[in-house]
Amino acid sequence: MRSYLIAGNWKMHTTPADAKTLASAIAEKQMFLKPPHSVQTLICPPYTSIGAALEAVAGKGILVGAQDCHSEAKGAFTGEIAPNMVKACGCSHVILGHSERRQYFGETNSLLNQKIRAVLNEGLVPIYCVGETLLERKQEQTIAVVRSQLVDGLKDVVLQSASKLVIAYEPVWAIGTGLAATSDQAQEVHAAIRGFLKEIFGAVGEQILILYGGSLKPENAEELLAKPDVNGGLIGGAALQADSFAAIIAAACKLAVS
Ligand code: 13P
Repeated sequence: MRSYLIAGNWKMHTTPADAKTLASAIAEKQMFLKPPHSVQTLICPPYTSIGAALEAVAGKGILVGAQDCHSEAKGAFTGEIAPNMVKACGCSHVILGHSERRQYFGETNSLLNQKIRAVLNEGLVPIYCVGETLLERKQEQTIAVVRSQLVDGLKDVVLQSASKLVIAYEPVWAIGTGLAATSDQAQEVHAAIRGFLKEIFGAVGEQILILYGGSLKPENAEELLAKPDVNGGLIGGAALQADSFAAIIAAACKLAVS
């Protein structure tokens, strides 16, 4: 049976009340889908809505994660949140290195390396995002860019098992544009990522989940998720509606058992 992780990145959307409504609606739809154990669902609200989301999905088989965190455990870092704080809230995962963090907040591979190691030390699962810009794709730099994001971001990372790390391939040109990568484009990069993960981690790299993100929606979910190295999705816009998020979960359920 194939394993999938279907993750919603809510970005800067939802007050706690909105999060409660959305998370409850997702939980209700998921109840009808009855996903097999090999299909996991995760929602990543803004920090201030994590508590409300956790309450809404308690006991309903939906994981909750954060969208970022700091690399230090504590200190004078006004406005920041430490990994242990995220963990103590009840989160299981932390998205790191999203292209919006890289682009608007200047996050570099070396900073992300520190964050990844801090998150792993806390027993949280980092979802490390990689992906090329449109210019880099046009210049045929995609594989080289993704390689350096992986090699630099995962430097000196020790993994106890494949389940401790998730990679998300998010081509920057596909994020929020409605223009998803084709399933062949996604598979080509996912296969390259799989190869780099095996170089870095050995046999463990074979089992690490690699999610696709960038205009993933019900209409293209099944085709993308059917590709052999696409192990789930990191979904923005379509994760903000329970119907469309549930339709993507349903596509994963269908593929997992087929
Ligand atoms: P969209 O699904 O809105 O393109 O966003 C993808 C994304 O950035 C998920 O992290």
